[in-house]
Amino acid sequence: MTTTRIRPLVAGNWKMNGLAAALAEATAVKAALSDSVAPADVMICPPATLLAQMAYATRGSAILLGGQDCHAASSGAHTGDIAAEMLKDAGATAVIVGHSERRADHGELDRIVRAKAAAAHRAGLTAIVCIGETKGERLAGLTLDVVARQLAASLPDAASDADTVVAYEPVWAIGTGLTPSPDDVAEVHEAIRGHLAGRYGDAGSRIRILYGGSVKPSNAKELLALPNVNGALVGGASLKADDFLAIIRASAP
Ligand code: PGA
Repeated sequence: MTTTRIRPLVAGNWKMNGLAAALAEATAVKAALSDSVAPADVMICPPATLLAQMAYATRGSAILLGGQDCHAASSGAHTGDIAAEMLKDAGATAVIVGHSERRADHGELDRIVRAKAAAAHRAGLTAIVCIGETKGERLAGLTLDVVARQLAASLPDAASDADTVVAYEPVWAIGTGLTPSPDDVAEVHEAIRGHLAGRYGDAGSRIRILYGGSVKPSNAKELLALPNVNGALVGGASLKADDFLAIIRASAP
């Protein structure tokens, strides 16, 4: 396994939040990052309706953009859905797939998530593949089993560090203010690393593993310093530039 430090990725998931006025938060992040080299790759995943405008507003900066979901097909009769190719066309370089809110709200199973990740790759996007256990599964001691099963079934066989990021997001920690203990996060990330290295070899030892679930300025430093935590997927705290910037700064070694 390589011991070279993996450059962190701090990605903001705006979820179903943000009208045009919220572009000001993205431009505030752009302005703050223009003074110095960010300690992490920085990404914002706005609602699809804002993607093209945000691409315009953040042009010339290091801010990367991502979608929050995509359809597995590249085009066709799928009313209301968005193809990975369309996200790319609007300015995205990545897309989140398999977020637990998609899995819960839309019944997305691992095989659907894998097809979406493959669609992202087909379109030239990085797939940010989310996995994580429910509270019941954690209490039953099933966390590592659940994560292993989701990884095995949600990741395409051809994934590599160039096109894939894994986000470990315990469902019970999302939007609740609760986080697992640092030891628990480190344990799960070590297990994920073992799976990725076993399946993808050297590339698997370089795939970024983000932690997500109630990351905020006050806990970011501790979480981001844990072994095999290569960044964060941030929901609520990414909506305000100041909080998001504090988390980005907390990723410095
Ligand atoms: P949260 O969401 O930071 O608001 O808990 C994280 C996520 O769902 O990606």
